Amino acid sequence: MTVRHRPKREAAAELDLAARLADASVVICAGAGGVGKTTVAATVGLGLAATGRRVAVVTIDPARRLAEALGLPELGNEPQPVEPALLESSGLELRGELHAMMLDVKRTFDELIELLAPAAETARAILANPVYRQLSTAVAGSQEYTAMAKLFELERSGAFDAIVLDTPPSRNAIDFLEAPDRLLAFLEGRAAAGLLGPTGHAARAAGIVFAAIRRITGVALLDDLTTFFRLVAELLSGFHERAAAVRELLADPATAFLIVTSPERGPVEEAIYFAQRLDRGGLHSRGLILNRFHAGSEDTRDAAVTAARLAPALGTELAAKVGRSAAEFEQLARRDRLAMRRLADALDEPAPFRLSDREADVHDISALVELHRELFGDRREPSPERPEAGGREPVDAKARSHGHP
Ligand SMILES: Nc1ncnc2c1ncn2[C@@H]1O[C@H](COP(=O)(O)OP(=O)(O)OP(=O)(O)O)[C@@H](O)[C@H]1O
Ligand SMILES: [Mg+2]
Repeated sequence: MTVRHRPKREAAAELDLAARLADASVVICAGAGGVGKTTVAATVGLGLAATGRRVAVVTIDPARRLAEALGLPELGNEPQPVEPALLESSGLELRGELHAMMLDVKRTFDELIELLAPAAETARAILANPVYRQLSTAVAGSQEYTAMAKLFELERSGAFDAIVLDTPPSRNAIDFLEAPDRLLAFLEGRAAAGLLGPTGHAARAAGIVFAAIRRITGVALLDDLTTFFRLVAELLSGFHERAAAVRELLADPATAFLIVTSPERGPVEEAIYFAQRLDRGGLHSRGLILNRFHAGSEDTRDAAVTAARLAPALGTELAAKVGRSAAEFEQLARRDRLAMRRLADALDEPAPFRLSDREADVHDISALVELHRELFGDRREPSPERPEAGGREPVDAKARSHGHP
């Protein structure tokens, strides 16, 4: 199936990422686990700030060294300015401002309870309840839910032109969209109705539900549970209003999803599924980023040929080694071209953006700035095969010309 997953024709024709995101006030980086969402979120933040916008990047569980490199304080739960001098020393000048933070799930949840509780006393009682203490950090979905709550709060504040949101490290990208509903169902006590309701089935239902909740939260105290759901019931309408407002924000045409994937089969299929799901839900993808791409060249494909060519200069042994590793690399490059074609075809995306696989992890500013250059800058000449491609090489055209299926 072919999916049109961009909102506007103009945006679809635009092959420059900064131009595609020019009117986006929210950018959400989503994808399978470990593909580079956090790295891309930081890079996109740099890119938007470089073009003159006031940007906040909300990262979730960034690698410690990346957080340190950006000077992110662990505490605070509010975006802090990233020192422009840090970036300038790596050759990137910000015309705008870059602010960044690490999401603090517990604190965001606490603040939400305080905001939505009808009385300070209710908030205090909820925050002190053992069920809540488990819920706010351990229940599946709380990271996704608080990420959206933080996004919503920052967007409302009007303090930034653009907010770039990283998404939590779940296995499937789709969890991000579905987790808040699951969490709401939990808070609503839909799962626990039997505990509270005076129905004839209450006892049996309570037994089942109690066991389920105990599995999720590890909390065994029936009294705490009952109290928790009673207290939370007072906040439910607030939670629902919020959830509706967040859904609206996600569906806003100025909210841009960027789908991040690595070239591996699982993440690629996940990216396609996620794009289709966005499309069905009326949400807007503004682009696909294929991270950790290996760009190969045909002439390194055959280890023996490479070895023979290099032998006079390097000696037989070393030339054979180089030949073998070049061939291995070319195998990866071939896989990656196929991934690119699969994505381009399945999603009607003529030119996914790509970021090359670097030898080392992306844990310092200079590596981030180099990724930024790949994603936003240094346009290549338009390809003769696809003059409309602007500066970016039409990657699938290249794959096709190599005769891959
Ligand atoms: N293009 C790249 N080249 C080399 N290393 C990379 C590249 N992109 C990301 N990495 C590294 O891969 C690891 C995973 O990246 P990242 O943390 O951004 O992924 P993620 O999708 O956010 O993961 P999670 O799902 O766990 O949150 C990190 O160590 C990062 O430095
Ligand atoms: Mg991450």
